[in-house]
Amino acid sequence: MSKKLIIANWKMNPLTLREAGILVDAVESAESNADIVIAPPFVFTEYVSSVTSAETKLGAQDVCWEDPAKGGAYTGEVSATMLKKMGVEYVIVGHSERRQYSQETDALIGKKVAVTIKAGMTAVLCVGESLAIRKKGTSEIKKYIKKQLSGALSGIELSKSQAHKLVIAYEPIWAIGTGKAATLEDALGVITYIRSILTTNHHIPTTRILYGGSVDSKNIKGFLSDEDIDGALVGGASVNPKEFSKMIAIVATI
Ligand code: PGA
Repeated sequence: MSKKLIIANWKMNPLTLREAGILVDAVESAESNADIVIAPPFVFTEYVSSVTSAETKLGAQDVCWEDPAKGGAYTGEVSATMLKKMGVEYVIVGHSERRQYSQETDALIGKKVAVTIKAGMTAVLCVGESLAIRKKGTSEIKKYIKKQLSGALSGIELSKSQAHKLVIAYEPIWAIGTGKAATLEDALGVITYIRSILTTNHHIPTTRILYGGSVDSKNIKGFLSDEDIDGALVGGASVNPKEFSKMIAIVATI
């Protein structure tokens, strides 16, 4: 089984540098055999970069859709070149919270995927359906996921050797932050479909696909023991130091 990927999406947490240090310590002290990525808010990026070991990778939760490598007039934005220079290797793109609160479209998300990969980092593209769509049944879910993938990936060409520059995170919106994770069967149903679309429509069969949505120490083993699930995108549990180090240790037993 290939190495699993666990991404800690801290979202807009924690409030202080001191607490960020405690979260990093929890990751660093856990026995791990997975690729661990910490994606802090931008204000903590440099600090997290300075206190993590080489084994722990640095992530970002977003990136500007444009990347004039010399900088530019985009108030409030952070460019892919800036992130790369700071040591960031993974950028979360198209998280459902950004789609919802910042009205990000598939086209904009596609631009973010492109600038991330062009700058030499890995784009973690998030897709996932709402509860309303899930209630309509499997074919509606597939239609929606396919639209999200093609909307963000049209125009993105990856050679076989570049396939690791794209990761897909399947995060059903109804499972995010609700404590109600998808069942393994539901997650696999969509993940297998994503794999087939990546292979047939985008010619990138070897991309890693993660599950995200209320992953915790009780369910992580079930998800990551399956060879079709390459890892987890973890929100709430990743800002609970005890819980997250427990999760990393559990994955080491798989
Ligand atoms: P959650 O969040 O683990 O708190 O459900 C996952 C995510 O939004 O990436």
